[in-house]
Amino acid sequence: MSFHVIQQAPARLNRSELAVPGSAPQMFEKAAESEADVIFLDLEDAVAPDDKAQARKNIIKALNEIDWGKKTMSVRINGLDTHYMYRDVVDVVEQAGERLDVIMIPKVGTAADVYAVDMMVTQIEDAKGYKKRIGFEHIIETALGMQNVSDIAAASKRNESLHFGVADYAASTRARTTIIGGVNPDYSVLTDPLDDGSRAVHWGDMWHYALARMVVAARANGLRPIDGPFGDFSDPDGYKAAARRAAVLGCEGKWAIHPSQIALANEVMSPSEAEVTKAQRILKAMEEAAAAGKGAVSLDGRLIDYASIRQAEVLVEKARQISGA
Ligand code: GLV
Ligand code: MG
Repeated sequence: MSFHVIQQAPARLNRSELAVPGSAPQMFEKAAESEADVIFLDLEDAVAPDDKAQARKNIIKALNEIDWGKKTMSVRINGLDTHYMYRDVVDVVEQAGERLDVIMIPKVGTAADVYAVDMMVTQIEDAKGYKKRIGFEHIIETALGMQNVSDIAAASKRNESLHFGVADYAASTRARTTIIGGVNPDYSVLTDPLDDGSRAVHWGDMWHYALARMVVAARANGLRPIDGPFGDFSDPDGYKAAARRAAVLGCEGKWAIHPSQIALANEVMSPSEAEVTKAQRILKAMEEAAAAGKGAVSLDGRLIDYASIRQAEVLVEKARQISGA
């Protein structure tokens, strides 16, 4: 362990994050009643240029008037390369900052981008006398953003999470994709022939490097890594497979671009009862080991040590958060 202690972002459940276009107010009530942990009301790519101003008004009204319960509320502002962004920040934070928990910044490319938004939000919060500090969620979705992901992750105390925006990332890196967040059969290996001449094709995950890189930057800075969209909402199995592989790498949640994906994300991103029971047994066994002056013991024929305690504690804490949700 380094001498440097990693400050963790405020603990929030972020298993599912529902995207709702700001230009579709008829969807807001249903979203508020959903089981999503986080909702982001979108001003960016789901909203056409002519609808941006009205979408802003819809979002401000909805944040102030709808009962969103305990949900974490986010607004995805437009990118810093557009002229919409400054008014998104000024209008939404000035007029609805009390109910806004986090701002989602798309296409963030450098630490200076984060600084710029931080400066604006700080001035507005101070001027309005808000007590609560608004957090930041960053979408890592460009080659530049991925190159600078560590600096971005460390750029502000407001930072809470990093999100892998696979659709724009594919566009930015010119990756060959079929569906958003899905697999491509061309990203595969052909095994050498066996004695009988047979060969097999093993599909790989073309997003592995990007997702793993982002997870490391997030965790090294105490932030939540979140996997982004899966475009084919008529393929729940494909969605769950994508969510599971993200969870295996350390992601805490995944976007839902359709309400049907919320339950899938919540299911995959919640520890199972068996996992929680096992974690509790590990903690108990290690407590007994410590009392007996031992640092490592075996449980069910496997070695457990202090690293097992840390993993088990994370799991038990997550289960506690979920049961209190
Ligand atoms: C999300 O914004 C994405 O581009 O995937
Ligand atoms: Mg995007």
